[in-house]
Amino acid sequence: MTTRKLLLLPGDGIGPEAMAEVEKLVAVMNEATGSSFVTETALVGGAAYDAEGAPVSDATMALALAADAVLFGAVGGPKWDGVAYEMRPEAGLLRLRKDMQLFANLRPAICYPALADASSLKREIIEGLDLLIVRELTGGVYFGEPKEIIDLGNGQKRAIDTQVYDTYEIERIARAAFELARTRRGKVTSMEKRNVMKSGLYWNEVVTRIHRDEYADLTLEHMLADSGGMQLVRAPRQFDVIVTDNLFGDMLSDIAAMLTGSLGMLPSASLGAADAATGRRKALYEPVHGSAPDIAGQGIANPLAMIASFAMALRYSFAMIAEADALEASIADVLESVRTGDIMADGCRRVGTSEMGDAVVTRFRERVSR
Ligand code: NAD
Ligand code: IPM
Ligand code: MN
Repeated sequence: MTTRKLLLLPGDGIGPEAMAEVEKLVAVMNEATGSSFVTETALVGGAAYDAEGAPVSDATMALALAADAVLFGAVGGPKWDGVAYEMRPEAGLLRLRKDMQLFANLRPAICYPALADASSLKREIIEGLDLLIVRELTGGVYFGEPKEIIDLGNGQKRAIDTQVYDTYEIERIARAAFELARTRRGKVTSMEKRNVMKSGLYWNEVVTRIHRDEYADLTLEHMLADSGGMQLVRAPRQFDVIVTDNLFGDMLSDIAAMLTGSLGMLPSASLGAADAATGRRKALYEPVHGSAPDIAGQGIANPLAMIASFAMALRYSFAMIAEADALEASIADVLESVRTGDIMADGCRRVGTSEMGDAVVTRFRERVSR
């Protein structure tokens, strides 16, 4: 049987707490479904900075490049606030994305039926929500040069970030979005700010051309990103696939996350291009949320975003569709009766991180051994 190599990068704060629940699931996968995952664990973020002097070491980078998939917890926290910009925990995540060339970040926002009342929006607005944000992840203002703070010598400084997009970067993320839309409801909404940004104008032009030349059977709609944010909270079910740049995608996906009730619910997949010979992609899976310093160490974090990220790994890296479906269904099942504090509701039992993980494991075992 083929061995599947997973690199686990738990990171900081609640990252390791959530990752521990995925490790339970990996063990059950091997035992109950006969798959053969092997895991290796390495440091990332602040934990790596403290122990190894960098937020991701070259050795860890090599492990990430060699793995079939990377599972990433979360990084960052107040402990590292004073650390040099290049060495801060978040820089480790950015290096992983850049060096693994993970240009397509898939951030689904699904309203689980049991959570329709956990959202800050009314039930009738979010019930049945199922949208997918496709965020460009290796370009734009996150990586554009120049990126610096210059001393102007007159008591003033100038801080510069640069938004840059080349043709190929927009083409490949547009294709990724259209391909995904084809497996869903066939609609793509592209978001940029062409009214003020040259990169927005060009983004719009390239996405329009790719649609016209290659995906004319699908529906393409354009929205200014600010208006898109407004539409996301006004009538989120109008969206199927949203394709947008790195920074807008970061912000819009946090908004989309809260539509579903909690940041603790949203998974993501970051994918590279398919290898021409093997068809395999580099991939990293991580929750949308961060290290949640305010609740870290208390055993109360919601591990479902991390667990759902593992389900995305099953789906996108290993084509284990039945297992991914079973795991996602197990999450929906347990939400009927047990909840972590962030999504607590009357009539449900309040549990901690580990108990929530156990509940999913139990349900998953039942589902796959039927
Ligand atoms: P955050 O996502 O860590 O937390 C925001 C709020 O959501 C907090 O109140 C937190 O308690 C809550 N929350 C988040 N995940 C939760 C979960 N699983 N269960 C229950 N509640 C949850 O964002 P932040 O506070 O803005 O950032 C904290 C640190 O995390 C910063 O250093 C930031 O840079 C970093 N961060 C890292 C990632 C990542 O590693 N991918 C993503 C976002 C932020
Ligand atoms: C995310 C995070 C990251 C980002 C940070 C931690 C670098 O907010 O994954 O959404 O800005 O992309
Ligand atoms: Mn973010």
